[in-house]
Amino acid sequence: MERSITAFSFALVAALASALVLMVQAQLNPGFISIDCGAQNSYTDYVTNIDFFTDKGFIESGESMQISTKFIGQQFRQWLKNLRRFPSGMRNCYTLKPDKGKNNTYLIRASFWYADYDDKNRPPIFDLYIDVNHWDTVDNSDKTHYEIVYVAQRDDIQVCLVNIGQGVPFISALELRPLDNSIYHIESGFLRLWKRYDVGGPNSTIRYPDDVYDRIWEGWNSPFWLMLNPGTSASDLSNNNDEYKVPGEVLRTAQTASDANTTLFYCLLPDNVTSKFIWFFHFAETQILPSGQQRELTVSTRDGRFEETVGLEYLKPVTIVSTPVSGSQINFSFKATTMQSGYPPPIINAFEFFQIKELLNAPTAQDDVKALTSTKAEYTVNKDSWQGDPCVPRKFAWDGMNCSYGNPPRVISLNLSSSNLSGIISSSLSNLLELESLDLSNNQLTGAIPETLANLPKLRILNLSGNKLNGSVPNALKRRHEDKTLDLSLNNNPDLCQESPCSKKKAKNSFLVPVVASVSVVFVVICVLSIGLIRRKRTLESSERTLGLKNRPFKYEEVSRITGNFGQVIGEGGFGKVYLGALDNSTVVAVKILSESSKQGYKEFQAEARLLMIVHHRNLVSLFGYCNESRHMALIYEYMANGNLRQHLSGKVKIPPTEDHPKVLTWSKRLHIAVDAAQGLDYLHNGCKPPIIHRDLKTTNILLNEDFQAKIADFGLSRAFATENDIYVSTCPAGTPGYLDPEFQSSGNITKKSDVYSFGIILFELITGRPAIMRSRDGSTTMHILEWLIPIVESGDIHSIMDPRLKGEFDINSAWKLVEIAMSCTRPTAIQRPDINHVLAELKESLVSKSSGSFEMTSLELHSDIAPIAR
Ligand SMILES: *[C@@H]1O[C@H](CO)[C@@H](O)[C@H](O)[C@H]1NC(C)=O
Ligand SMILES: *[C@@H]1O[C@H](CO)[C@@H](O)[C@H](O)[C@H]1NC(C)=O
Ligand SMILES: *[C@@H]1O[C@H](CO)[C@@H](O)[C@H](O)[C@H]1NC(C)=O
Ligand SMILES: *[C@@H]1O[C@H](CO)[C@@H](O)[C@H](O)[C@H]1NC(C)=O
Ligand SMILES: *[C@@H]1O[C@H](CO)[C@@H](O)[C@H](O)[C@H]1NC(C)=O
Ligand SMILES: *[C@@H]1O[C@H](CO)[C@@H](O)[C@H](O)[C@H]1NC(C)=O
Ligand SMILES: *[C@@H]1O[C@H](CO)[C@@H](O)[C@H](O)[C@H]1NC(C)=O
Ligand SMILES: *[C@@H]1O[C@H](CO)[C@@H](O)[C@H](O)[C@H]1NC(C)=O
Ligand SMILES: *[C@@H]1O[C@H](CO)[C@@H](O)[C@H](O)[C@H]1NC(C)=O
Ligand SMILES: *[C@@H]1O[C@H](CO)[C@@H](O)[C@H](O)[C@H]1NC(C)=O
Repeated sequence: MERSITAFSFALVAALASALVLMVQAQLNPGFISIDCGAQNSYTDYVTNIDFFTDKGFIESGESMQISTKFIGQQFRQWLKNLRRFPSGMRNCYTLKPDKGKNNTYLIRASFWYADYDDKNRPPIFDLYIDVNHWDTVDNSDKTHYEIVYVAQRDDIQVCLVNIGQGVPFISALELRPLDNSIYHIESGFLRLWKRYDVGGPNSTIRYPDDVYDRIWEGWNSPFWLMLNPGTSASDLSNNNDEYKVPGEVLRTAQTASDANTTLFYCLLPDNVTSKFIWFFHFAETQILPSGQQRELTVSTRDGRFEETVGLEYLKPVTIVSTPVSGSQINFSFKATTMQSGYPPPIINAFEFFQIKELLNAPTAQDDVKALTSTKAEYTVNKDSWQGDPCVPRKFAWDGMNCSYGNPPRVISLNLSSSNLSGIISSSLSNLLELESLDLSNNQLTGAIPETLANLPKLRILNLSGNKLNGSVPNALKRRHEDKTLDLSLNNNPDLCQESPCSKKKAKNSFLVPVVASVSVVFVVICVLSIGLIRRKRTLESSERTLGLKNRPFKYEEVSRITGNFGQVIGEGGFGKVYLGALDNSTVVAVKILSESSKQGYKEFQAEARLLMIVHHRNLVSLFGYCNESRHMALIYEYMANGNLRQHLSGKVKIPPTEDHPKVLTWSKRLHIAVDAAQGLDYLHNGCKPPIIHRDLKTTNILLNEDFQAKIADFGLSRAFATENDIYVSTCPAGTPGYLDPEFQSSGNITKKSDVYSFGIILFELITGRPAIMRSRDGSTTMHILEWLIPIVESGDIHSIMDPRLKGEFDINSAWKLVEIAMSCTRPTAIQRPDINHVLAELKESLVSKSSGSFEMTSLELHSDIAPIAR
C-alpha cells in the first residue's frame, strides 16, 4: 500500500521538479525559445549567454546531421554546426509554445547553413511557412537568416519546411523572442525582415545581450555619406524609455552629410513592384550642438506619399515609421529642415525595413485541430503528412482526411481504415463536430463504442468493422441507424453484442436504468429524494418549477442586471468567471458565466445545468436558474458567503472573524463540515439513480454558507452512469492532482470509490490544515499529504500531524477516529475503501463521541440523513 502511494507521489514530485528546472532555465533569457536543430545536447552560448536547446519535443520527424568537416573548424556559431533534415514528408513542422501565447508579437528567426553536410555540394531550395502561410523560399546561395515579426494567431506557432522538389529541406536553428506588442505594429499581416542596419557601425553584428530583443544589427556604411564621430558612449544612450529599445551601441554611430543643405538619399529597387515595404528609421542626437541649435530633419519619399519631420534631443532616441510603400524604385531622402550653412546637417543612426506579407490562409477551426492532435497522440498515428495544420494549405491536408473550406476550414471526413490503431476509440473523435464520415475499419480497436459518437450531428457514415470492440451498441447509434440517418458498419467484431436486448450482458440488478446516450442519461437521472423535495417545494412556494426539464430560464439582460452589469468578480473557475449578483427579491446569488471560447466547456456546462436542476440536497450547492441564449450561458447559484474550505484551512479568508466564527475553524466545526460533505456525497452516490460521481472533489469545491454549513459545488465533471460494475471508463483525465485516485491513474476507471478517495484527502486536510500537495518553504520540492503523514501516523504519533492552528484544542478520540476513517478512504485500491454511507455513519459516531467528551457541545442536529430540507 505504501509503495504505491510513494510511487505516485514520486512521479508527481519528479514532474514538478522538471517543470521547475525548465522555469529556472527560462529565467535567464525570459521568454526566449532557442533551438539548435539536430543538436545532441543543450548548452549556453558563450558569446551571447543564450541557452540553446535540442529540438526534442518541438518536432517528431527528420534526421539529425552535422555540417561537413571541411567547415567545422570555421569560426561559426555553435548552433549552425548541426542541422535536421527531412527526407520524408512534404511538410515537416516545428511547434513552438511561447509563454505569452496568442495575440502577442514575436520575432521569429530561422537559420539555415548548408555547409555541404551531405557531400553533394548542392544546397536545396525549399519553402518556409509560418503556420499556414508562406513565409519565404529558402535558397542558401542567398542568406542564412530568415526573420519575421509575427503576431501569434494561436497559442502554438508552427514553423514548417515544405519540400518543393528541389532538394531535401533542412534547418539549423530556430529562435523566438517576445517583443513589446506596441512596436512593429501593423494593421494586418506580418513583417518579413529585409535589412536591419547599424549605420556607421563596425564590420560586425550586435545582438543580445546588447539588444534585449535579440535583433541582429549589421554594421553598414553608405559610401555616399560621411561618418559622424561618435560623440558619446553606448551607456549614455541605453538609459532611455524608448519602446523600440535600440541598443546604445547601435545608436552611438551614425552617418551624416557635409552641410545642412546636402540631402541624404537611400534607394531600394524591389524585385516585385507589388511588394509593400515598411521602414523604421532610428535617430538619436549624439553631438552637443551650439546652444540654441537643434537638429531637425525631414524624412520623405521622393513621390511625396510619405513625409515626416522630427526634431532630435540630446541622447533621446526616436523612431520614425513609414507608411507602407511600394514601387519599382523606393527613394527616401533625409534633409535638414533649415538648409542654411551653420545649421546642423541631417544624420541617420540606424534603420530597418520589412516586407509586409499578408495572411492569405486562415487555419482550420481550433477545436478540430485539438481533437486531431490528441487523436494523433493517442494512437501514435504513423503518417508523414500528419504535421502542421490539418486542412490548410489544401495541398498539404493530412492523409485520410477531407475538409470543407469555409471560414474557418473544418474537417468533414476522416479515414483511418487499416492504420494499425489499437486501444479504445478515442473520445476526442467526438469533438470533430462537422464530421460526416468516420472510417476506423480494420484496426485493433478494443473496448466499448463510445455513445458520444451519436452526438456528432452530421455523421452519416460510421465504419467500425474489423476491430475487437466489445460491449453493446449504444442505443442512440442504433436509433440513428434504424431511422437511416447513419450508415453503420460493425461487422467482424466478434465480441460486440449487436442484439437488443443484449443477451450476454443482462444486468444483474434489473432495476438499473441502462445508459442511453449521454444527453438522455441526464434526463433519466432521478434522485429519489428530490421527488419528495420538489413536491414539498411546490406546495411550500407554489413554485413553477417542474421536475427535470425546466427550471427558470433567465434572459441575458436579466443576468446582466442581476450582476450589476458584471460588476464584481468573486471567483474564476474552469468555465469562466463567477460574479456576485442579487435577484429581484434581493436574494444574493453567484453567477457563473461560461466563457465563449470553449466548446468543451459548453458541453460540461450543459451537463452541469441539467444535473443541478434535478439534484437538490441541503449539502449540495443549489441552482436558482440558468441562461442559455445563443452565445451567452450562465448558471445562477445560491451564494455561499463564506467561500471555500481551502481558504479557511489556509487562513486566507477575507471575511473578518467574529466570536461565533473565529478565524481558525474549530475542531467541532471541522467535524460538522466533514459530516455535511459526506451527506452531500452520500446523496449523489446513493440517493440518485443512476448514481452520480463527482470526479473532482476537493477542498476548493466544498463551499460554506453564512452558517458554516458545508455544501458540495461544481458538478461540471459529473457523469451519470450505470453499468454492471458501476464503472465509468473515462478517457479524458478529470480531477485535480493530489485528489486523484491512484487506481484511476493506472486504469482510467472512475468509480464511486474514486470520490471516496478524494473525500479521504479532504478529511486529512481538515485534520492537518495542510493542502493535498505540500510544498517546501522555498517552493522547490513538493510532497503528497499521504506520503508525509502515513509514516507519522503509523508510528502512533497523532499530535504531530494535527493542524497547529488548533493549538491543541481538539478531542483526541474523535481525532483518532477521523484519521482512521480518512486512512480507510485513501487505501490504494478501490475495493479496500468503504462506501460513503459507511463513512458517513462513522463520522456521525465521531460527532457523538466528541459531544460526550470534554468539550462543550453546540446544538447537535443530526439530520436523519435522508430527509433533505427544502430551502
Ligand atoms: C489582440 O491584441 C490587441 C492589442 O494588442 C487587442 O486590441 C485585440 O483585441 C486582441 N485580440 C484578441 C482576439 O484578443
Ligand atoms: C568586413 O567583413 C567582411 C567579411 O566578414 C570582409 O570581407 C570585409 O573585408 C570587411 N571589411 C572591413 C572594412 O573590414
Ligand atoms: C509579385 O508578387 C505578386 C504577389 O505576391 C505575385 O503574384 C507575382 O507573381 C510577383 N511577380 C513577380 C514578377 O515575381
Ligand atoms: C533618388 O532621388 C534623388 C532625387 O530626389 C535622385 O537624385 C537619385 O538619383 C535617386 N536615386 C536613385 C537610385 O534613383
Ligand atoms: C549651400 O549653402 C551654401 C552656403 O550657405 C550656399 O552657398 C550654396 O548655394 C548652398 N547650396 C545649395 C545647393 O543650396
Ligand atoms: C475525400 O474526397 C474524395 C473526393 O470526393 C474521396 O474520393 C475520398 O474518399 C474522400 N476521403 C475521405 C477520407 O473521405
Ligand atoms: C477509407 O480508405 C480505404 C482505403 O484505404 C477505402 O477502401 C475506404 O472506402 C475508405 N472509406 C471511406 C469511408 O471513404
Ligand atoms: C502496429 O502497432 C503495433 C503496436 O501498437 C506495433 O508493434 C506494430 O509494429 C505495428 N505494425 C505496423 C505494421 O505498423
Ligand atoms: C471489453 O474490453 C476491454 C478492453 O479489452 C476490457 O477491459 C473489458 O473488460 C471488456 N468488457 C467486456 C464487457 O467484455
Ligand atoms: C467498412 O469497411 C469495410 C472494410 O474496409 C468495408 O468492407 C465496408 O464496405 C465498409 N463499409 C462502408 C459503409 O464503408
